[in-house]
Amino acid sequence: MSEANKKIGNSRKVFIKTYGCQMNVYDSERMGDSLDSEGYVATETPDDADLILLNTCHIREKAAEKLYSDLGRLRVMREERDPSRPLTIGVTGCVAQAEGAEILRRAPTVDLVVGPQTYHRLPELLRKVHEGQKVVETEYAVEDKFAHLPHHNRRAVQKRGVTAFLTVQEGCDKFCTFCVVPYTRGSEVSRPLDQIMSEARELVDAGVKEITLLGQNVNAWHGVSADGDVLHLGDLLYQLAKIDGLKRLRYTTSHPRDMDDSLIAAHKNLGMLMPYLHLPVQSGSDRILKAMNRQHKADDYLRLIDRIRKARPDIAFSGDFIVGFPGETDEDFEATMKLVQEVGYSSAYSFKYSPRPGTPGATMKDHIEEKVKDERLQRLQALILDQQHQFLQSKIGQRIEVLVEKVGRHEGQMVGRSPWLLPVAVSTNAKIGEIIAVDVTDASSNSFLGRAVN
Ligand code: 5AD
Ligand code: SF4
Repeated sequence: MSEANKKIGNSRKVFIKTYGCQMNVYDSERMGDSLDSEGYVATETPDDADLILLNTCHIREKAAEKLYSDLGRLRVMREERDPSRPLTIGVTGCVAQAEGAEILRRAPTVDLVVGPQTYHRLPELLRKVHEGQKVVETEYAVEDKFAHLPHHNRRAVQKRGVTAFLTVQEGCDKFCTFCVVPYTRGSEVSRPLDQIMSEARELVDAGVKEITLLGQNVNAWHGVSADGDVLHLGDLLYQLAKIDGLKRLRYTTSHPRDMDDSLIAAHKNLGMLMPYLHLPVQSGSDRILKAMNRQHKADDYLRLIDRIRKARPDIAFSGDFIVGFPGETDEDFEATMKLVQEVGYSSAYSFKYSPRPGTPGATMKDHIEEKVKDERLQRLQALILDQQHQFLQSKIGQRIEVLVEKVGRHEGQMVGRSPWLLPVAVSTNAKIGEIIAVDVTDASSNSFLGRAVN
């Protein structure tokens, strides 16, 4: 650590709160790494922290509003604090990107606002804050953020466990008419192959067994091999599969239009690619899909599901759905229910449409009443819950492979991850990081119970 850094950092504590998606979880981890190299130690208790970062989500109105209620509480905390223990408050992530200086106006308690493209500059920005400036940094950096982040902190990786996220792609060029992502995260950018490979090796060296590749549109990832060949996500998965010690791969989130043949073939040929795919469709009505600018029809999605199932028959699907998009009729909603029936999901997320400022959907006509949205959401969620239950029950009696992740609640019990992500509780002497054969004996509403096979 340099002298200058020592002065700023020396045993200060940082608390990072993450809202929203897995990409934010990854970003929070990386921010933690970059602050660690400045001498900041992570704390789980906001009261102990010298620096609090709120890594925010802008996807729906409720998520964004949560920031301001949390900032209200932090203002009180700061006012009540002993002045000898100053507190710095920063807002990062997608609300920071979308609202910028507006956050300082609405919540003057905030010292620092940093968008998702520039958090590698955190140490330098904090220095400015400590000199008494208020800092807003939402420009897209010209330099590559990832190339400027420090290496993964081995201790932090080990503390997080044997599974890890790795962002390989950021941003989105699809412009679904409901979505803020293309505005907050910018256009699609793929990280280069070498960078991804060396980060993956670092994670595996620290004990990681399962990596989930992340991107807002992860299956749009593309790169170039050392020989100059164009690579797609399927090729990247094959490259990663060669890393010694890595046992499992996953990727999320995908757009149906970017599921190319090589990626579908990877589901057939690459055993370590887990049989679980989050493939959002949003609606089952062609009229609504068109209004959402999804660029495919319901039937295209169903045929795609068929092709992936042919490649990997034990694959489980999850999805995202929006109910009450402007103009959605009862008939449109019934088409969504029908699509869900036809696919049979192992889990799925569903949301009421939330108009987002600056997106085309927000200014469309025929917005749907809240009451109608509520009714539709309830019906859809009941159906999805029922499918999740059926999925879990269908595995009872099967022998599955489980990656042991942590100690369970009961004596001698461990908790692991099934191939379909759902947790499995099992009595075993196996150690964290081992993959063991387990007979599924029972299932609750969202997990399995199993017996280890000797
Ligand atoms: N309203 C409701 N849900 C939304 N999502 C994205 N934007 C909105 C919005 N404006 C949902 C989509 C997406 C998931 C991450 O969040 O289903 O796939
Ligand atoms: Fe948003 Fe659509 Fe891009 Fe997904 S594909 S991030 S929903 S614009």
